[in-house]
Amino acid sequence: MAVSTISPRVEEPAKRPPVNSRRQAMAAGCKVAILGFGTVGKAVAQVLCNAPIPGIRLAFVFNRNFERKRVSWVPEDVEWTDDLRQVLASDADVVVELAGGIEPAKEWVEQALLAGKSVVTANKHLMAVHGLELLQLARHTGQRILYGASVAGGVPVLNALEQGLAGDRLVKFAGVLNGTCNYILSNMESHGTPFAAALAKVQKLGFAEADPSDDVNGVDASCKLAILARVGLQADIQPESVYRQSIRGIDPIDFEYAHQLGCTIRQVSMAEIKGKTLRAAVQPMLVPFSSALSRTKDNQNALIVTGEHGGETVFSGRGAGGGPTAVAVVSDLLALAQNSQLTPARPLHSYRVSGNFSLRYLVRVRLRNQSDSISTIKQELSRNGVEIGSVLRKPKRSKGNSDVAVLTKACRPADMVTAIRDMRQLPGVRQAPVYLPILPN
Ligand SMILES: NC(=O)c1ccc[n+]([C@@H]2O[C@H](COP(=O)([O-])OP(=O)(O)OC[C@H]3O[C@@H](n4cnc5c(N)ncnc54)[C@H](OP(=O)(O)O)[C@@H]3O)[C@@H](O)[C@H]2O)c1
Repeated sequence: MAVSTISPRVEEPAKRPPVNSRRQAMAAGCKVAILGFGTVGKAVAQVLCNAPIPGIRLAFVFNRNFERKRVSWVPEDVEWTDDLRQVLASDADVVVELAGGIEPAKEWVEQALLAGKSVVTANKHLMAVHGLELLQLARHTGQRILYGASVAGGVPVLNALEQGLAGDRLVKFAGVLNGTCNYILSNMESHGTPFAAALAKVQKLGFAEADPSDDVNGVDASCKLAILARVGLQADIQPESVYRQSIRGIDPIDFEYAHQLGCTIRQVSMAEIKGKTLRAAVQPMLVPFSSALSRTKDNQNALIVTGEHGGETVFSGRGAGGGPTAVAVVSDLLALAQNSQLTPARPLHSYRVSGNFSLRYLVRVRLRNQSDSISTIKQELSRNGVEIGSVLRKPKRSKGNSDVAVLTKACRPADMVTAIRDMRQLPGVRQAPVYLPILPN
């Protein structure tokens, strides 16, 4: 079967029933078309087919070369297709976009809305980059887009921000939002496995992509942070404006230094409103054991939300994987089928976006040999405005190597980055120093 292509944009669908009659039809039974029968698409179909949910019926599965995807447990009356036009021209009420990426997913979503269908998606890249225009198109066509699965998988954080916490004025998020990084870091911590081996293991288990760059470099989490900032902080930001630092370069020995300080290491996504500035960053951080973020293991996600009136609220659970993500998708389908009204969207504000969190850092430098002195490191840091708080004890396991680690006083990230760059040029320094900010308690 030929690979499906996108049909020309349908500006106005030929026979679109009026919105009210579509809503009545939906109340009688919502017909669902899944676009993309991969990990999540298949899991959603399983939820819908294993124990039928009143008011929701799977009607279409769309995927390129769909014959190889067919499974016996999908009822016979479900149509399989690789022709999107067939779905758009059908009486399906909701299109569930689960292919991922920006294109052709964006075009499919636009076409579905223009064809008078509501959309559910788990696609964080699409909703982070083009969410505003798609939501506007949905309003224009009288349809809805729900995307609860796009952040934290099965943990209903977006619904909570839009409904349960809507009465507060939220000012801050700190979260562990990427399952792949969490698998890698938990593995390095539990077994002392080096980064490359931990990544390979996680890839073998199917929990990391063949190309994991977007996960380890923070791109994936910055998309989720941008969505959270829009929904919870009413801040209009793009993911590329979020300061990012990769988890590559972390060594198992860094966990031993972190433990000395009562911390573990996690990829943390933070956003905070300070006046007219939105500080936003995704980076590996030292996380105190007292923080709920330190208890995330494997594909668990956690988010701490701070509100002006309600203080801190913590969410945690399975942030990735077919099953948990399918739950979020099906919950959005139920919300559409029940036509439940969400809180009206609040106006968005523009902020200057900066990664300028003033934080204390663990800095570990691998010297060429043990006789190289720590004083030059101290000098280099202080020349760049970074003061040392204390020098850390050498962990037992690092007796044979020539690492030195210090804890700095709070400083600006720009000063730290310059100091690290200068330190790298010193003849006694063997490799790029590792610098990890500490999450404030
Ligand atoms: N997996 C998770 O744990 C998770 C968690 C939260 C959110 N999400 C989001 O959920 C979405 C789906 O993720 P996934 O893990 O299920 O991805 P996946 O396993 O790669 O599945 C994608 C499916 O879409 C099909 N597809 C892709 N491009 C297509 C095209 N141009 N035409 C027709 N079919 C196409 C693929 O077909 P082929 O088999 O032919 O490639 C595949 O069956 C993504 O937006 C992802 O970010 C995933």
